[in-house]
Amino acid sequence: MKQSRRSITDLILHLHPHTVPRETLRVSLSWGLGGMAAVLVGLLFLTGILQLFVYQSSVHQAYASVLTLTREVPFGLWVRNIHHWSANLLVVAAVLHLLRVALTGAFGQGRRLNWVVGLFLLFLLLSANFTGYLLPWDQLAYWAVTICTSMLGYIPICGPWLLELFRGGSEVGGPTLANFFVLHVAFIPGSLFVLMLWHFWLVRRAGGLVQVKKDEQVPVDRVPTVPDLVVREAAFGLLLIAFVLILAIVWDAPLLEQANPGMSPNPAKAPWYFLGFQELLLHLHPVFATLVWPLMGALAFLCVPFWADSSLPTGVWFGSARGRTLAVWTSAVGAGATLALVLTDNLLLQSAAPVSNTLMTRGLLPTGLLIALLAGLYFLLVRKLKYTRAETVMAGIILTLVVLTVCTIIGVWFRGPEMHLSWP
Ligand code: HEM
Repeated sequence: MKQSRRSITDLILHLHPHTVPRETLRVSLSWGLGGMAAVLVGLLFLTGILQLFVYQSSVHQAYASVLTLTREVPFGLWVRNIHHWSANLLVVAAVLHLLRVALTGAFGQGRRLNWVVGLFLLFLLLSANFTGYLLPWDQLAYWAVTICTSMLGYIPICGPWLLELFRGGSEVGGPTLANFFVLHVAFIPGSLFVLMLWHFWLVRRAGGLVQVKKDEQVPVDRVPTVPDLVVREAAFGLLLIAFVLILAIVWDAPLLEQANPGMSPNPAKAPWYFLGFQELLLHLHPVFATLVWPLMGALAFLCVPFWADSSLPTGVWFGSARGRTLAVWTSAVGAGATLALVLTDNLLLQSAAPVSNTLMTRGLLPTGLLIALLAGLYFLLVRKLKYTRAETVMAGIILTLVVLTVCTIIGVWFRGPEMHLSWP
């Protein structure tokens, strides 16, 4: 007993240092979100492997094998549901984790690379979700993947080539399923695993979680990892696992009829985490909705750690009381403005003479206006109102996530047949 306890402690201390600063144990610093994401990845690996014993990845057998899993295999439905809920919760946990890292200033010196690694992790887990979406080969899967992959076709020059590459042909079919299966069960989990180890190691190399800057002369109050940190991690992890297991009993993962390439559902929607982008497609020229704006957003997020200078306050939510007020205003104004823009554009699109969808009217013009608006706001906040660069960068991150969240909510609940606005 003593021997096995020591082995477990040794294993834990391979991942963690022997002691951690007491301050970083504060729940309200991290809300355990990174750890939760890691637990969810663990659940996904486990339930994914179990499903592989039954799942068949050919167009003729995929749907039937999912039916066998859910109807005939003991606990098969539960295992599938756990996989489904873990995958969806992982997107939420990772985005909230990103937000907490951003809003506690945990992306500055010593953590810059980890921010970038985190962004790649986010990209990978979205890809894992998306490639897994197709595997049941039902109507939901088939048409969501058709919608999303067709967005690739709008990318100038290499778009059609990319579309063929992902689909393995011009239509979503057997080769697409084969491509997605390999990406989903081998390439993406492998990359996710390696990147996660790197991510954890970088947290350790930075001396643990971010802390409030203080006088270097004052010694840091440290506590032993076992039991102080590990007990908290175990409590969070077990609570989360219990929540997912119960959710998976109460709520089944969706499964519609078998995919029918001849009958498109109306509306045909992307998976919920891409509905924000599908919403953009309704308002912008496809090249801007599928390429220019996502690329601008991705580049801006990659640059975040290099933007905020030494003004970056660490370990304090929003940096300061002023930063908190700015964050609240940004959220409220961002949500209101997004809603107003969507409704106004909807009216314009339904008017007798709707604005034509050209590169100029729905591409360059709104993009130019957006850049001018952001530059103006930046100037106003930093130069006139004397907010620090860090506080302004945090407000920018909040704005982006609020806009995406509002667009996602509209896409999930308020888009009906023909993607027209409708009451849920
Ligand atoms: C699969 C997805 C992810 C997993 C499993 C994960 C896991 C973790 C864990 C366990 C920690 C330490 C504990 C904590 O902060 O809660 C951490 C810290 C960190 N993560 Fe993540 N993370 C993921 C995604 C991301 C994303 C999307 C970002 C941001 C772009 C990010 C950036 C960071 C940074 C900068 C730290 C250091 C925070 C600090 O020093 O306080 N991570 N992550």
